[in-house]
Amino acid sequence: MTRPKILITRPWPKPAEDDLRQRYDVTVNDGAPLDKAALIAAMHDYDALASTVTDKLDAEVFATPNPRVKMIGNFGVGFEHIDVKAAKAAGIRVSNTPDVLTDATADIALLLMLMTSRRAGEGERQVREGRWGGWGTTHLMGQSLQGKTLGLIGFGRIGQATAHRAHVALGMKIAYHNRRRLDAEIEGPFGATYIETVEDLLRTADVVSLHCPATAETRHLINAERLRLMKPSAILINTARGSVVNEGELAQALKANVIAAAGLDVYEAEPKVHPDLLGLENAVLLPHLGSATVETRVKMGLRVCANIDRFFAGEPLIDPIA
Ligand code: DGY
Repeated sequence: MTRPKILITRPWPKPAEDDLRQRYDVTVNDGAPLDKAALIAAMHDYDALASTVTDKLDAEVFATPNPRVKMIGNFGVGFEHIDVKAAKAAGIRVSNTPDVLTDATADIALLLMLMTSRRAGEGERQVREGRWGGWGTTHLMGQSLQGKTLGLIGFGRIGQATAHRAHVALGMKIAYHNRRRLDAEIEGPFGATYIETVEDLLRTADVVSLHCPATAETRHLINAERLRLMKPSAILINTARGSVVNEGELAQALKANVIAAAGLDVYEAEPKVHPDLLGLENAVLLPHLGSATVETRVKMGLRVCANIDRFFAGEPLIDPIA
């Protein structure tokens, strides 16, 4: 029996690729990310795609007539790059990889909180550029996070894992805004306070960390007007998606010290970063590292494999999004 043909659109860690190769006829694109023409061609050449965040799987890609692809296993939890409605209309199943990257992403949120509050990026630049004049009593003083309030917008798996770290390791108080208030069993361990509006959360928090999905409703949720509600000492952290923040307006706010600092792992037009952010000492900028540990990336690949296996066995997907 011929094995289903699968395209991995960007290389995976070897153990995960090897797992898929055991059961399928696998091709790996180890060149540049696929453009629209290449994605449309792939829709006709393969039985399934193992896509990822750099693949813009929009309505035009799904509108290609008589596609051979019937299943897309996305490597990653976020799926704003996939037009799920169009996939459904084309009869194509889609899965993602929740759970396995929760801890790694929460670690990066904490890293950004510490880097921004302790001015680690500025310090590193001073040392590397030979600008450090030695220990000083008032040199690069940052802010302590002990006893301060972390305000989370979105309190799903990654938001909760971030809250856990901040509460246990840094002694922070936890407040959150979410589409709905969560049960007492979830709030309890953090003593988390539910705040009904984004605006009130922004007024309350010393650190605001974004963990909401990227949707039409959350696009530019953080803009100039909302940044002005934050405390001048406040820090904004984004490990969710770039589209949730108006990057140009954030850069202006950081430049004018409307807020103290921002730590970003995601951007509106990756890999481009708004040029006004690049020169700012109070912006810590990471290149979308949320899930980037060997352990996590292997688990993400294996989770795609498990979903693809389910599909070809005619069984329900583990992580269906379409
Ligand atoms: C995710 O899984 O959503 C990561 O941000 C990579 O896309």
